[in-house]
Amino acid sequence: MGVVSSGSPSPYGGGIVKPLPREWFVPHGGSAEMRWDTLADTGLYTPNERFFVRNHTATPLIDPRTWRLRVHGSALRGGGAEFSAADLRALPARTVDAVLECAGNGRRFWAEQQGTPAPGTPWGLGGVGMASWRGVPLADLLRAAGLGPDAVDVLPSGLDPEYTVGGRNLGHVRRPLPIAKALDADVLVAYEMNGEPLPPDHGAPARLVVPGWVGVASIKWLGDVEVADRPLGSPWNTEYYRLFGPAQPEGGGPALTGQVVKSAFELARGAVLAAGRSHRLCGRSWSGTGPVREVEVSTDGGLVWRPAELLDPPAGHGWTRWCLDWHPPAPGRYGLRARATDGRGAVQPAEAEFNREGYLFGAVVVHPVTVV
Ligand code: MTE
Repeated sequence: MGVVSSGSPSPYGGGIVKPLPREWFVPHGGSAEMRWDTLADTGLYTPNERFFVRNHTATPLIDPRTWRLRVHGSALRGGGAEFSAADLRALPARTVDAVLECAGNGRRFWAEQQGTPAPGTPWGLGGVGMASWRGVPLADLLRAAGLGPDAVDVLPSGLDPEYTVGGRNLGHVRRPLPIAKALDADVLVAYEMNGEPLPPDHGAPARLVVPGWVGVASIKWLGDVEVADRPLGSPWNTEYYRLFGPAQPEGGGPALTGQVVKSAFELARGAVLAAGRSHRLCGRSWSGTGPVREVEVSTDGGLVWRPAELLDPPAGHGWTRWCLDWHPPAPGRYGLRARATDGRGAVQPAEAEFNREGYLFGAVVVHPVTVV
């Protein structure tokens, strides 16, 4: 439906269309990780050209003039509905500021910090970004399509090429949302990102944005939404994006929903800092379950924690920028630590509970620097 072609293979794979300069991105096969050390000058929102990309296959180039979003299924009265890009823009718009983060963000620290490697993209902490998303609440489209009282699950699907792994074709990337979540006013079918039309790599002409939930819920290149009167499934909520491991029930935990609390320094790992002077250490913290209300920083291995100055008032689904001045006592190697607490009181632990796929690494990440 309106798909013109897929992006040409980029040097990183993943058919990513936008340029991926090394000073902004760390390449990971089909994905591009944002570099935290060059984020300092960007302001609160991650510019579109610097936003991380996670593609299962390749960015499709979709003609917005022929694109349609089809809403259908057993829980709709009547035959469902189709919306064009112009139809979406004619409906009342809503803007939501939200962090988008991959469930595997921080995966390399399972190996590096806890000695328990997990397979999959070895993200540092740059599988995350924050944007101002504008679009139409999914709820409004479901209601306009004749939503009935017996709806149970909503299954949004992408128009990117079908995903094949180990010789098995899993079909289009898709993942069900329970109806209660689908009706949350902040869940958008977004057509703008940071005041610009959604770029191709981020889901043009329209994508789902599910604030606070694992990134895979935010289906890009949305083409189809099924609304059913029974539970729906897909490999993305049965095989992937669930927790399996010693701390989980036999057969695995439930499908992942909210993200955990995390923090990152806007500093290169292994940065070299000058001795004998003060340094302003800055970073950002975020959580899937409410705004961050406190950030503490330790520069001495976790013995003493000092409160960082929060630059953004805790609000909504965004991240909070923070800074703290540090005068290193002597030349040497240091492990900086930042630990955030969200509005519900969830605090980053010193160690995360292992799961087989390496999702949700929420422990405090030790950030090495050398003072010379
Ligand atoms: N939607 C489709 N159709 N295809 C995809 O590959 N990747 C998901 C999600 N939506 C994906 C998708 C994952 S795993 C993540 S983390 C986010 O999109 C990444 O969004 P971004 O590339 O805009 O940063």
